[in-house]
Amino acid sequence: KIEKKIDSVLKLMTLDEKIGQLNQYTGDRDATGPITNNPNKLKDIKDGKLGSMLNVRGAKETREVQEVAMQSRMKIPLIFGLDVIHGYRVTFPIPLAEAASWDLKAIENSARVAARETAASGVHWTFAPMVDIARDPRWGRVMEGAGEDTYLGSQISTARVKGFQGKGLGNLDAVMACAKHFAAYGAAIAGRDYNPVDMSEHTLWEVYLPPFKAAVDAGAATFMNSFNTLNGIPATGNAYLQRDILKGQWKYTGFVVSDWGSIGEMIAHGYAKDKSQAAELALNAGSDMDMESRSYLPNLAKLVADKKVSVALIDDAVRRILRKKFELGLFNDPYRFSNESRQEKELNSPQNRKDALLMAEKSMVLLKNENQVLPLAKNLKKIAVIGPLGKSEKDMQGFWSIQWQNDNLVSLYQGLKNKVGNQTELLYAKGCEIEGTSTAGFAEAVETAKQADVVIMAVGETLDMSGEAKSKANIHIPGVQEDLIKAIQATGKPVVVLLMAGRPLIFNWTADHVPAIMYTWWLGSEAGNAMTNVLYGDYNPAGKLPMTFPRDEGQIPLYYNYLSTGRPAKNDQDTRYRSAYLDIQNSPKFAFGYGLSYTTFDYSNLVLSKTEMGMNDKISVSFTLKNTGKYDGEEVAQLYLQDKFASVVRPVKELKDFQKVMLKAGESKTITFNIDKEKLSFYNQQLKWTAEPGDFKLMIGTASNNIKLEKDFTLK
Ligand code: IFM
Repeated sequence: KIEKKIDSVLKLMTLDEKIGQLNQYTGDRDATGPITNNPNKLKDIKDGKLGSMLNVRGAKETREVQEVAMQSRMKIPLIFGLDVIHGYRVTFPIPLAEAASWDLKAIENSARVAARETAASGVHWTFAPMVDIARDPRWGRVMEGAGEDTYLGSQISTARVKGFQGKGLGNLDAVMACAKHFAAYGAAIAGRDYNPVDMSEHTLWEVYLPPFKAAVDAGAATFMNSFNTLNGIPATGNAYLQRDILKGQWKYTGFVVSDWGSIGEMIAHGYAKDKSQAAELALNAGSDMDMESRSYLPNLAKLVADKKVSVALIDDAVRRILRKKFELGLFNDPYRFSNESRQEKELNSPQNRKDALLMAEKSMVLLKNENQVLPLAKNLKKIAVIGPLGKSEKDMQGFWSIQWQNDNLVSLYQGLKNKVGNQTELLYAKGCEIEGTSTAGFAEAVETAKQADVVIMAVGETLDMSGEAKSKANIHIPGVQEDLIKAIQATGKPVVVLLMAGRPLIFNWTADHVPAIMYTWWLGSEAGNAMTNVLYGDYNPAGKLPMTFPRDEGQIPLYYNYLSTGRPAKNDQDTRYRSAYLDIQNSPKFAFGYGLSYTTFDYSNLVLSKTEMGMNDKISVSFTLKNTGKYDGEEVAQLYLQDKFASVVRPVKELKDFQKVMLKAGESKTITFNIDKEKLSFYNQQLKWTAEPGDFKLMIGTASNNIKLEKDFTLK
């Protein structure tokens, strides 16, 4: 039915109006790229030269701009898009932090809340989720994805798309998702943003594409292509990615928006000589909408006249965009999302904040807890909060948040205050800045620490140290913060370090000497309350790292599912003529999948329903998981597989399933996983997804480097 409607609209449109639909400008605030000055934006809308705007938000503002579109000849409504990456009005933890929860329902709900707030503000489209696999913590945008693993990343891709799109486009609480950045943007050489990507077809298909395919399968309405070149071809002008794979093999019916200016950037890449050629290459390669490069609007009509671009391809791009406008219901009522009273009710609602608090609690990863420093006793007399992030509100929101303002955010200090009131005295000393070399505040910090029963240190990154264009060659804790930790640790007081950052940092001294360490990432609006609940054990932490934490930048890229060499090192000491370093161990400081709880878990009783399976069989795997500690708590039981010998060398282990299980203190449960052919398949030399007969190793663990149960089986 919609297709017929599109046909009738298309028939009425001039070529210029069609080209207008492929054009997107930014509004005048929240720019996320270089702005081309254009005093005529509203006139262009009226003249039918625009299909969409980004960075226009709010029920009133979107209505006003939409009114201008309604003055155009064809009265085709605009789509409003925005980077709603981790919450709209209420900020949720950064996506990498949410991934650490391994809690798909909670992640879906976080996207749901964001969608409700976004839709209520007149915005139809979020440029999320970012589903780029990221194995390099130097790349600042690791904060925006789900980490290094393809399986976990694909599950989270599905959850986020479902969350944003809810019961489907057309519902007033659903926004269009945008799977980005297609493709392989996360593999920028040396972790430097926008850098080229040079990758085998095999790695592309096996590691980087599956989360995108998961987004297609979950119904993602749109895709965004990426800034990088892939094997020498800019993704924006890459027909193999966009036409052959996405729109061909995957039969994708949504539309592809370019990244900001990326069509024009093909000139700087040395791929297009001017904007006209850039437009030709991008449109022919399958980029449907031009975000802010101003290449399509001035050039496509001539390219059609010169027969360099066909009307059929332009019609296809317009059809894809109109399809979404119909699905959103905008042709029926272009203002249906711009409703001020709904906005008033939905934004920052108590329920949304409650959900943000729970998500923040779920996102923290307890890295160390010697001598059971945590949870804190409830009757402490004095707590010292020390460190440059102790009273920060702004940094708690993390990069890529909509508000970029300091309201409604709870600092660690405030969160503690909210909990302890006047019962416990809270002391505070900043100690140092996040960057710089000054140790002038150390003495005061040490004196403050000496007066307290427990010291809680808040150190890490400012919100603008991870994110787009925030690559770093040195990912140690910035400035003199680790020296401050040393000085405080020397007081002999029990110390808890809270590390707040958008990427895995390196902090070897702290990891080796401080008894309690919690990785909090950036937790959003409710950060301080969430940290406090976890510190006091009112929430038992259960997060697991979605990325490997290296010991040294020289190890990067370091990830758990590497391929074996012909001379693998058996352990960190086994280095003679082995694939190893002379000056550092191979192992990470903290492994993928690692994270502690206040309680302990025991794995036992592994039973496989059979140890030989046919291609169409299944093996049922069960084991007993027991909470052996004093606290109720959750464990993420992880299932890894290794194909021992295959026609393409397989990783030493690959995550293939997991379950997050709640167990009361002392409780046991039988956990069951199923293994089928799909879990044993990989891309062979012909890039065919296939399973080969042979021996497999099954591993069940609490982390990728802490396997508790294992058994071999054979695929016949
Ligand atoms: O969505 C973003 C993208 O991830 C990076 N460049 C700008 C876009 C729009 O803000």
